[in-house]
Amino acid sequence: MREEIFEKEKQFHDQWASTIDVEGIRVRDYFEACTAPENRFILRQMGDISGKLLLDLGCGAGENSVYFAKKGARCIAADYSPGMVEVALQLAAANNVQIQGRTMNAIALDCPDNTFDLFTLLICYTICQILAAIKEMRTVFLSLR
Ligand SMILES: C[S@@+](CC[C@H](N)C(=O)[O-])C[C@H]1O[C@@H](n2cnc3c(N)ncnc32)[C@H](O)[C@@H]1O
Repeated sequence: MREEIFEKEKQFHDQWASTIDVEGIRVRDYFEACTAPENRFILRQMGDISGKLLLDLGCGAGENSVYFAKKGARCIAADYSPGMVEVALQLAAANNVQIQGRTMNAIALDCPDNTFDLFTLLICYTICQILAAIKEMRTVFLSLR
């Protein structure tokens, strides 16, 4: 049953990814516009992120990864929708930054323990089993112990 739900959601997001116009995404506005107070709040909490290794879980079109890569972080854009990961890589190329793309399910992270300095799990209301995802994240983040 759970696999069925994941499969349906993955197809939904792959379909959505195929409609995204990368050229129309304004990465800076996404974080700094006056209409994004929640993201401006997050930025204030994060401080200097240059050189940090960041996992952008449920990356969608990759706005977070691209924004933070521009600020000097090493970003891995991860999503269980291969279509979204592809869009994230296109967005990075359009913004002249390098990020890594990975197709991964948030509840079964395929990366070594104690790997990342930072993570973003933004607007991921679509992640079913969010608690399972957070539990999984505890093992791969250096500071979530
Ligand atoms: C609404 S989008 C958010 C995109 C981006 N984080 C943002 O801030 O705009 C949610 C993303 O979460 C991904 N997602 C949902 N469930 C997931 C899971 N179990 N593992 C990985 N990604 C997942 C979806 O494919 C989708 O791209």
